[in-house]
Order: sequence, then structure tokens, then C-alpha cells
Amino acid sequence: PDEPLVLGIETSCDETGVGIVRGTTLLADEVASSVDEHARFGGVVPEVASRAHLEAMVPTIRRALRTAGVTARDLDAIAVTAGPGLAGALLVGVSAAKAYAYALGKPLYGVNHLASHICVDQLEHGPLPEPTMALLVSGGHSSLLLAPDITSDVRPLGATIDDAAGEAFDKVARVLGLGFPGGPAVDRLAREGDPAAIAFPRGLTGPRDAPYDFSFSGLKTSVARWVEARQRAGQPVPVADVAASFQEAVTDVLTRKAIRACQEHGVDHLMIGGGVAANSRLRAMAEERCADAGIRLRVPRAKLCTDNGAMVAALGAEMVARGRAASAIDLPADSSLPV
Ligand code: KG4
Ligand code: ZN
Repeated sequence: PDEPLVLGIETSCDETGVGIVRGTTLLADEVASSVDEHARFGGVVPEVASRAHLEAMVPTIRRALRTAGVTARDLDAIAVTAGPGLAGALLVGVSAAKAYAYALGKPLYGVNHLASHICVDQLEHGPLPEPTMALLVSGGHSSLLLAPDITSDVRPLGATIDDAAGEAFDKVARVLGLGFPGGPAVDRLAREGDPAAIAFPRGLTGPRDAPYDFSFSGLKTSVARWVEARQRAGQPVPVADVAASFQEAVTDVLTRKAIRACQEHGVDHLMIGGGVAANSRLRAMAEERCADAGIRLRVPRAKLCTDNGAMVAALGAEMVARGRAASAIDLPADSSLPV
């Protein structure tokens, strides 16, 4: 049978994403971001995000259909992020998906944002083996997930107990005066710094700590204190060394725990997703350590790691292909939807 043609809508945070896939083949990936509107606030403002989604929704859907060279009538299903995320932002995407599904008489699939961050890798590297081990690192979450079935059974092994990894990047960027979002700026600056210059703490890596949980708030505070002490002493702040040493601490803990999770669960591959998976040091370190451990690494290209609609379409297509039940037309947006 033909592979399902699915349109996916993502509005859980500040990107209005619409993607179209045929099975595991990417046909369109259109993203309209309101990130510039949030920059002056130093973080995402939910009300601003909802309004921006509302304005961008229909034009972005039309653009995706044009790019894919298909019409709405050709679609086999509409998939949408049902949660977790910002309530008002999710509501815009869910409402649009319902309207299109109802008007076109197509099945509607509500999908989990975290599961779709994992499933997107199928568009890059083909079908994911199961169970899949995934390290999801973004501005909103940092989790280790074991997925025996990406469409229906995704189990959290551990998560951050305070800040998400991306949040730590954003906060450290602010301390260093690099602007928002901070991840890409820290990544760039760190290339000119010495990752061993400053020994920043590795949270929750003691023998009695939860093996798969993360903590980045102590690290963030420690970076801020280090910089403040320098400034008080009237000494210059070696910003590139601070960025590189901070980044080293984050990526060291993330890769160590992810590889341990693979080894202890007998999984021979690791998927890394979410916005922080775009980090160049995380990619390089994971590649090196996974190779040493005999683990196959799967990291999608940066554009598929940050929030987008193609990941939603990818998971929707997988649900259609596996004959999963469609969602009811009264599908709710759930800001705290568990995996
Ligand atoms: O997945 P995403 O687009 O949105 C959320 O669901 O949160 O992730 C955004 C996060 C931001 O915190 C951003 O600073 C971070 O990902 N990020 C990076 C890089 N690119 C984006 N962090 C480190 N290095 C990068 N190159
Ligand atoms: Zn995300």
C-alpha cells in the first residue's frame, strides 16, 4: 500500500511549524518563528506566542502544501501536537488541526511533543529500531526516554529536577551578555575557548544520585558566581573560556548518562533530539563516546532538532501506518501531557 501522506502542525512553544511527509519521506518543513518578538523580554512570552501562532497558522499551512506540491484533499491525515507545551499556544494548533480535519473529512491524530522529537529522526536516518533510547534536550525538557513503541509506549527513565539543558544555555548566555536564545551564541563562542579552563560542577553524578536524572541549576549558579567574582575583582572575564567550560560540563553529563542508560537497558543505539541536539560540542562528544561504547548514534540535522511541524507529521504517519486509532474531534490541548 502507498505510504500515508500526513500534514503535521506544531505550536507548543514559539515556532509555528507545519510539515508534510509521505511515510518517512520529508516533503515540506515550514517554520514561522516569533523568537524575535520574545528576544526583548529575554524569554518566551506565552501571550505573544499565541497571537503570533494565530497570525502565522493558515499562511504556514498553505506554504507547506505548496512546497510539498500537494493539495489538502490529497492528505490521508492531519496530525497535531496535543501537548506538552504552552496551553494557549497549543490551543491554536489543535483548533486549526480540528478545523482542517473536520472540513476535509480526514482523521485527526493528536501526538505527544516529546515522542515526535524522537520520531523525526526517521525522516533523516530511516525507521527507528525498537526499543529506542532517546536523550531529549531542549529549552523546556531534558529527559532520557526508553521507547519500546514510539506510537504508544514511551517511558521516561529520568529527567531534569530543575532547569532544562537549553534553559541553562539561555541563562548562561544572559550572564555573558550574549542575548536570547543563548544556545547558538554559547556554541559559537565556545569554539574559541578552552573547555578545561574552569572546572564547573557536574550535577547529580555522585554514586548515590539518581542515575538518569539531571540538574543544571547549580551549574548555572556556579557560572554566574564565577563571572561575578571576576567582575568584582576588576579582572576581565574570559567569556570564551567560560562558555566552553560550561558547555563541556553540560555535554559531559548528558552523554555520560545517556550511554549508561543504553548499556544498562541493552540498547545498541542512541537518538539525541531537541533544540540542544544542535549543539556542535554535544554532537562531537556523543559521536566519540558512542563509538567507544559500540553504540550507534542518531542525531537529525539541526533544523529537525528544533521545534518543527515535520516531526509531528512523522509521528502521525507512523500512527497511520501502524493502524493506531485516530483522536476524537474534541481532542483537548493538554499543557502537561505525559509521554
Ligand atoms: O526544541 P527547541 O527548539 O524548543 C523547545 O521545545 O524548548 O529548543 C530550544 C532550546 C533553546 O534553549 C536554545 O537555546 C537551545 O535549544 N539551543 C541550543 C543550540 N541551538 C538551540 N543549545 C545549545 N547549543 C545550540 N547550538
Ligand atoms: Zn521541543
